[in-house]
Order: sequence, then structure tokens, then C-alpha cells
Amino acid sequence: MKRIAFHDREKEMKEIRAILDAEPSLITFVYGPINSGKTTMISHLIEELSDEYAPFYVNLRGRFITDYEDFLNVLFEIDEDGGVDNVTEYAKSILKDLGAVSGIPIPINLFEQIFEKKDKSKDMFKYIERFFVEISKKRTPVLIIDELQVIGDLKVDDLLIYKLFNFFIRLTKELHLAHVFAISSDSLFIEDVHSEAMLEDRCRYLPVDDFDRETTTAFLEEYGLSDEEKELAWHHCGGKPICLVELINAEEREKKVNGMLTLRTGEIETRLKLVKELGDEMMIGSRCCDVSYEKLASTLKMFLTRDEIGMNEVDEVSKRYLVKENILFVDPLTTMMKPQSRLNLLAVREVMKDV
Ligand SMILES: Nc1ncnc2c1ncn2[C@@H]1O[C@H](COP(=O)(O)OP(=O)(O)O)[C@@H](O)[C@H]1O
Ligand SMILES: [Mg+2]
Repeated sequence: MKRIAFHDREKEMKEIRAILDAEPSLITFVYGPINSGKTTMISHLIEELSDEYAPFYVNLRGRFITDYEDFLNVLFEIDEDGGVDNVTEYAKSILKDLGAVSGIPIPINLFEQIFEKKDKSKDMFKYIERFFVEISKKRTPVLIIDELQVIGDLKVDDLLIYKLFNFFIRLTKELHLAHVFAISSDSLFIEDVHSEAMLEDRCRYLPVDDFDRETTTAFLEEYGLSDEEKELAWHHCGGKPICLVELINAEEREKKVNGMLTLRTGEIETRLKLVKELGDEMMIGSRCCDVSYEKLASTLKMFLTRDEIGMNEVDEVSKRYLVKENILFVDPLTTMMKPQSRLNLLAVREVMKDV
């Protein structure tokens, strides 16, 4: 297995550096298709940050969060030895050796106090704000929440996500206290965010898409792929970093891409077959909607001759279903919709060619 070094992202990193150089004023939503390299880019950024900044990174991916208590456990990094119950003192002490932290450090006794409170969200935000106020005397806090959509639907009294957005607005636009980056691969979630009135003029969007052709070629060149192999990679994987890494590491590259394509074609075929034979339903808000095989098929057929389509060219149920199944990605900023990857586009074409 070859060690793969971080590649490129010059344009995105430049944009992020400009954001970090300025006073915090907007929430930044980092979005893009699955496996386009969002987490990798943010991890690289954290490593690169000078000690002017204090990054706090929380990844909700794969975390099973059903209530506040689960969320608190993920958001905070509990300090078992931190026997202080004064936030300011604690923040001061932690500033001395603030290494790579996952989550916001909190002494165990303060954590337990929040846990016992009825209105946990109020106390948790109050703690973070005080903690950041102290940290910000020496360094600028940078709060990064990856896979934020995980708590998108979590309801406790109100939707937690709204409380979080309010808090993020307070940290940025109102107090200019911390930079906030929220990352998501879930394009339906980003679409909701984009149409959310409370976030209007309070956030910006930073797309992180698959590599373009030039970047892909340069990436593959570093690992000695031949022109023929580069062509093969671009045709099948486009600029999807995860797919390119798999090819770099593969013994037989042609066999590998064909295998990947056959697998994805089979998956999409089965998905459609299931809808055709058994039907399917999906929730949109509180409504349960029928998924129509015919409408799905006519949506996917559009990709026989096109690489992307307008998101409003298809019915809402088909759009949401295909996005939820990770076949399509919708970009609410450009209002365009395309397969999650080049491999998905080829698989869709393979499935639809004789339908
Ligand atoms: N800039 C990059 N340079 C090298 N490899 C990358 C890069 N971005 C992503 N990758 C590879 O692709 C994989 C998936 O990327 P990841 O950051 O997890 O995607 P996302 O968070 O957008 O879903 C990574 O594990 C890594 O192997
Ligand atoms: Mg990720």
C-alpha cells in the first residue's frame, strides 16, 4: 500500500485562509458530493494552522445520536483530571498545552452539572461561549462540526439544529468570537440550510467537489501511472479522490475499475428493481410519499445524454429518493443535479441503456 500524500485543494484552502484572516462574521458551510475530500481537506487545514488559532473538531459521522445526552458526549471532550469548576480558570490552564483536541474540552464536574440541568442546551452553549471568550484572549477559536446533518432531524423540545444555528450566529455575526465551519455530504440537508430564512446573510458556502481533470492527472502522475492508466482512471473515476487512491493501490487497474463499475451498476439495478416490484415510500417533512418507478426511470434516463440536469426538471420525490440513495447529488447553489461520481454516471447509463 502506497502512502498517499495530501494533494492540491489550493483554491479551497486559499478561500479558507482568507476567511480565517478576517474577523469571524459568517458561518461557513462546506459541502460537496460523498468522498470528495471534505474531511481530508479540513484535517489538513487543522494540521497546518498556526498557533494563532485553536481548532476544535467534532465529527458526528457514524455517531448514534438520539438525544441531548448523546450529543453532549460527542461535542465535549471530558477532562477527567480537570477538577476545576470555573470555566475561565479551566480555559486558561488548557491554553498552555492545547494539542489536537476532538471536541471541546470540559472538566468532568462542569460536564456533569450541564448533564443534570433541565435546559441542557442553554447551559452547554453558555459554557462554550465562556470557554471561547477566554481562549480568544490568546488564540482565535475555530469550531468545526463534520457531518452536521446527523442531528438535522433531532427533536428535543425544538429542533436542536435551530438552537445550534442560533448559537453559531451568536459566535460569528454577533460576537465575532469564533470561526464556525459546518461540513456535510448530505445535499438535501444543504438544500434545507440554503432555504432556511434564519440563516440568510449569516452564512457562506464553500463547495468541495471532486478534482478537475488537470488536478486528477497531476495526482496520478505523482504515483507513476502511465498515460493509458490516467485515461482509464479519468474515464471511470473522474476526479473522485477515494476512487483514484484505490486505483493507485490496485495491482491490476483495468480489472479494478471494471469491478467497481459492475458492482455499482448491480446496486443501482437492484434498487430500481425493488421499487418496480415492491414500490417504495419516503417521508418528505411529515408526509409519506409514494416513489414512482416510472418517474425514477425517466429521471435517470436524462443522464444517458447529459452529465447534469437542472434540479427542477424532475419531480421532488424522485429527486429526493435518488439523492437519499446516494445516486445523485444536488447543488442548491447552482440548482444543478448530477450523479455522486463519474462511476455513478457510468453505472446509471449502463442500467438505463436498455430500459
Ligand atoms: N486532497 C486529497 N489528497 C489525497 N487524497 C485525498 C484527498 N482528498 C480525499 N482523499 C482521499 O479520499 C478519501 C475520501 O475523502 P474524505 O475526505 O473522507 O471525503 P468526504 O469527507 O468529502 O466524504 C480519503 O480517505 C483519502 O484517501
Ligand atoms: Mg467526510
